[in-house]
Parts: sequence; C-alpha cells; structure tokens
Amino acid sequence: MDFRLLLMSAALLGASLTLSVTDRPAQCKIKWTFGIMCEDVYNRLVRQIKLWQISTRCLYSGEKCSYELVSTSPYLINAAHTSPKTKNVNEIQFLFEQSVLCKVSGESKMITPKDPEVNRTNYCSLQNLMAGSGLVNAEGYTEFSNKWICPGFEIDNCSLSMRIV
Ligand SMILES: *[C@@H]1O[C@H](CO)[C@@H](O)[C@H](O)[C@H]1NC(C)=O
Ligand SMILES: *[C@@H]1O[C@H](CO)[C@@H](O)[C@H](O)[C@H]1NC(C)=O
Repeated sequence: MDFRLLLMSAALLGASLTLSVTDRPAQCKIKWTFGIMCEDVYNRLVRQIKLWQISTRCLYSGEKCSYELVSTSPYLINAAHTSPKTKNVNEIQFLFEQSVLCKVSGESKMITPKDPEVNRTNYCSLQNLMAGSGLVNAEGYTEFSNKWICPGFEIDNCSLSMRIV
C-alpha cells in the first residue's frame, strides 16, 4: 500500500472515531499499541484467525472459534467472525501503523444490530484474538477505548459464557 494512502486511511479512521459515536452504535473501535514490530503483531493475528477458523468443532468451542480471514494487505487485515450460537456475523478490521511503537486500530461491526449480545460480541470478537494470540502479554501492550466508541468495552471478561436471553 502506498504510504500516503496509509496515512490518509489512518486519518480517516481517526475522524470516524470521533464522528460516528452516535450514528452507528453497533460497532466497536479499539486502539492498541505494542513495543514489538507490527509485522509480528500482524502475523500473530493472522495465525490466530486461521487457528480459530470456521469448522464443525466450533459448535463446541464457544465464541473463540469461527473466524474467517477475508482479505489481507501489508497494513490491513479484514476478517469475519460468525457466532456459532446465533450465526450473527461480525466484520472485523485491523489497520497497522508502524512508528516507534506499532499502532493498531481495530474495528468490529455487526450486520444484525438487533442481536441482544451485539455490544459484547463486537468487543469480544476483537479482544478474544488479542488474548488468544498472547498479544495481551506482548511487550508494551496497551489498549485504548471507551464505552462511547465501544459499548461492550466495560465487559471485564470475554471468557464468561454469554447470557441466555
Ligand atoms: C449497544 O450499545 C449502544 C450504545 O451504547 C446502545 O444504544 C444499544 O442499545 C446497545 N445494544 C444492545 C442490544 O444492548
Ligand atoms: C474469566 O473467566 C474465566 C472462566 O470463568 C476464568 O477462567 C478466567 O480466569 C477469568 N479471567 C479473568 C481475567 O478474570
């Protein structure tokens, strides 16, 4: 990807972070930073998505399964997560920016915002990848978000089973 294009898309993402607070609630945006190279973060996320790819065993694996790698380019990962339970689909995107730190912008949207677990799922489908890949323990790991840009952000434990509604 052209470097200017990358800067532009990073700027656009920053703008949408502040603009879309009220108009599109069924999504979650998180920013992470890492003290390790973006290439490493990128590879670990791709590997985790592949490890948790859609298969029949996902019926018994809770939400830490049923991911799909949709497309990749050097600074971008597009993926999807289909809840084995509700079949609702999250669209997931990670955008990478290497500076002194590796900065990652993540976004998760759900196509069916009527799902009562939408906010939890939007957050946990991103966070489960960070936890599952071990990136939460990587050097310099930080996570930034809040309940306005990620309504599920206050959930403290994505491992707990979902409420039955
Ligand atoms: C998800 O969060 C948004 C924004 O806080 C809220 O308006 C919406 O009701 C929540 N959805 C559900 C199903 O809880
Ligand atoms: C989250 O919940 C799971 C299952 O109950 C538990 O094993 C795990 O230790 C909890 N993690 C945290 C960070 O509280």
